[in-house]
Amino acid sequence: MTFPLHQDAAAAAVLRRTRMMLLLLLLMFSFSSFPSVTAECPEGCTCYDEVVECYEQVLDRIPDRIPQATKTLDLCYNEIRDIESLALLTELQSLDLSFNEIMDIESLAHLTELKTLNLSNNNIVEVKNRVFANLSQLQILFLHRNKIENIETGAFNNLTSLKELELDYNNIHKLDLEMFKGLTKLDELGLSNNNIKELKNGVFSNLRNLQLLYLDNNKIMEIESLAHLTELKTLYLRNNYVSELKHGAFANLSQLQILFLHRNKIENIENGAFNNLTSLKELELDYNNIHTLDLEMFKGLTKLDKLGLSNNNISEVKNGVFSNLRNLQLLFLHRNKIENIETGAFNNLTSLKELELDYNNIHTLDLEMFKGLTKLDKLYLSNNNISVLKHGAFANLSQLQILFLHRNKIENIESGTFNNLTSLKELELGYNKIYKLDLEVFKGLIKLDKLGLSNNNISEVNNGVFSNLRNVQLL
Ligand SMILES: *[C@@H]1O[C@H](CO)[C@@H](O)[C@H](O)[C@H]1NC(C)=O
Ligand SMILES: *[C@@H]1O[C@H](CO)[C@@H](O)[C@H](O)[C@H]1NC(C)=O
Ligand SMILES: *[C@@H]1O[C@H](CO)[C@@H](O)[C@H](O)[C@H]1NC(C)=O
Ligand SMILES: *[C@@H]1O[C@H](CO)[C@@H](O)[C@H](O)[C@H]1NC(C)=O
Ligand SMILES: *[C@@H]1O[C@H](CO)[C@@H](O)[C@H](O)[C@H]1NC(C)=O
Ligand SMILES: *[C@@H]1O[C@H](CO)[C@@H](O)[C@H](O)[C@H]1NC(C)=O
Ligand SMILES: *[C@@H]1O[C@H](CO)[C@@H](O)[C@H](O)[C@H]1NC(C)=O
Ligand SMILES: *[C@@H]1O[C@H](CO)[C@@H](O)[C@H](O)[C@H]1NC(C)=O
Ligand SMILES: *[C@@H]1O[C@H](CO)[C@@H](O)[C@H](O)[C@H]1NC(C)=O
Ligand SMILES: *[C@@H]1O[C@H](CO)[C@@H](O)[C@H](O)[C@H]1NC(C)=O
Ligand SMILES: *[C@@H]1O[C@H](CO)[C@@H](O)[C@H](O)[C@H]1NC(C)=O
Repeated sequence: MTFPLHQDAAAAAVLRRTRMMLLLLLLMFSFSSFPSVTAECPEGCTCYDEVVECYEQVLDRIPDRIPQATKTLDLCYNEIRDIESLALLTELQSLDLSFNEIMDIESLAHLTELKTLNLSNNNIVEVKNRVFANLSQLQILFLHRNKIENIETGAFNNLTSLKELELDYNNIHKLDLEMFKGLTKLDELGLSNNNIKELKNGVFSNLRNLQLLYLDNNKIMEIESLAHLTELKTLYLRNNYVSELKHGAFANLSQLQILFLHRNKIENIENGAFNNLTSLKELELDYNNIHTLDLEMFKGLTKLDKLGLSNNNISEVKNGVFSNLRNLQLLFLHRNKIENIETGAFNNLTSLKELELDYNNIHTLDLEMFKGLTKLDKLYLSNNNISVLKHGAFANLSQLQILFLHRNKIENIESGTFNNLTSLKELELGYNKIYKLDLEVFKGLIKLDKLGLSNNNISEVNNGVFSNLRNVQLL
């Protein structure tokens, strides 16, 4: 560049300035287009090795001059909308864009080395077909807590390495038959808190490695399509509209350990529906409409350790219903309409630690009712209609620590009723109609430290009734 000489000093100054500007521009240009090995760390970021961290910086755009060789980039908790410039960072293997304001993700289509991509908590409405088409290395894809309504057919088809896909808390209405077709390596799929009404036959048919499936808080009415999920260990289906469990619904799920079905509308459970769930440890059926417990219902569940049946409409417990549940530790039957418990119904529950029967209509405690429950440590019978406590009812419960009998209609406690409860720590008898306390009634309760007797009809207390109870807090 040459400049004609001028005599005018002012003009010369202008020229000098222009020359400086050009030089500066040239300098800036060379910095931005040829990032050298000594490239600085972008402002607001921390850099080391091939990692660039720029989280929680109130950034409203992708910082300039992120080194091209960056493999890990963390931009979570910012206010970024536009991510177009990321298209150049083709070496990226791990990208965290969660908690931003991103809608358009098409520029990510070029990041073919990505293994981990976190896009949760953004404003994504649509997932287009091409975005993930070349991301065959991707193992973890987080898309939860967006506004996704539409996922184009085939959008995930090429994600053949994907292990974890989280789509929870979106607005997905239906699952296209092709949606998960290519995801043969997937072991965790999150679809909870969407608007899914139907699981079409075959929708999960290629997910042969799936272990965890989350479908809570949707509008699913029928359980189908689980037959191919032979590796499934955990199934969450809480808070849906399922009304019936068909024979065969879980036929192939021999690895299943956890089945959560609370808060559905289950009324009818076909004979044998749970038969093949030989690995099941937890079955939660609370808050449904179950009214009868079929004798064969839980037959195959020999590994079960927790069974939730509370808040249903069960009126009767037949002898045999629980007879194969040798490993059961927790049984929740509270808030039903149980009036009748057949003799022996709990006899085989030799591992049971907690039995919740409160808020029912039980009026008599059969002498044999708790006979086999030698491991029981909590027994809840409050809010029933029990009037007499018979000597022998609790005879074998030497491990029992908590016994709730408050809010019944107990008038009379037979002498010796509590004698064998040598581990008992808390006994609640308040809100009954007890009018007299036998001299020996609390005799065996050497461990008791809490005794509730308020709101009864006791007019005089015999001297000595409490004489064995050393550290009791009387309520
Ligand atoms: C985004 O997802 C990755 C991969 O699972 C995870 O390690 C990271 O903690 C997530 N980011 C946030 C902010 O939760
Ligand atoms: C995926 O890669 C192929 C070539 O490997 C290319 O032709 C195609 O355009 C790429 N697709 C996208 C969406 O980038
Ligand atoms: C999947 O990837 C292949 C290349 O590996 C490409 O030809 C094809 O178009 C991709 N499929 C989709 C649905 O994009
Ligand atoms: C159970 O799985 C086998 C393959 O593992 C399959 O052939 C069969 O159809 C499945 N059962 C049902 C009821 O779909
Ligand atoms: C249980 O699994 C066996 C095969 O393992 C199958 O033949 C049978 O139909 C299944 N039972 C039910 C109730 O689905
Ligand atoms: C409970 O069962 C009784 C019959 O045993 C029935 O009349 C009642 O409607 C049921 N309640 C609910 C909430 O389903
Ligand atoms: C209790 O279990 C044994 C086997 O352990 C079985 O023979 C018996 O029939 C069961 N009792 C009841 C009441 O089902
Ligand atoms: C329960 O107690 C009775 C005596 O009341 C005894 O004969 C029986 O063997 C005990 N049962 C168990 C399972 O411990
Ligand atoms: C409680 O039991 C008595 C009989 O002992 C019966 O008359 C009454 O209806 C029962 N109350 C309820 C709420 O079921
Ligand atoms: C208390 O338990 C013993 C065995 O530990 C038993 O022999 C006895 O019958 C029980 N007592 C009562 C009152 O049931
Ligand atoms: C309280 O007990 C007395 C007898 O001691 C009895 O006459 C009275 O009806 C009882 N009151 C209630 C509310 O049960």
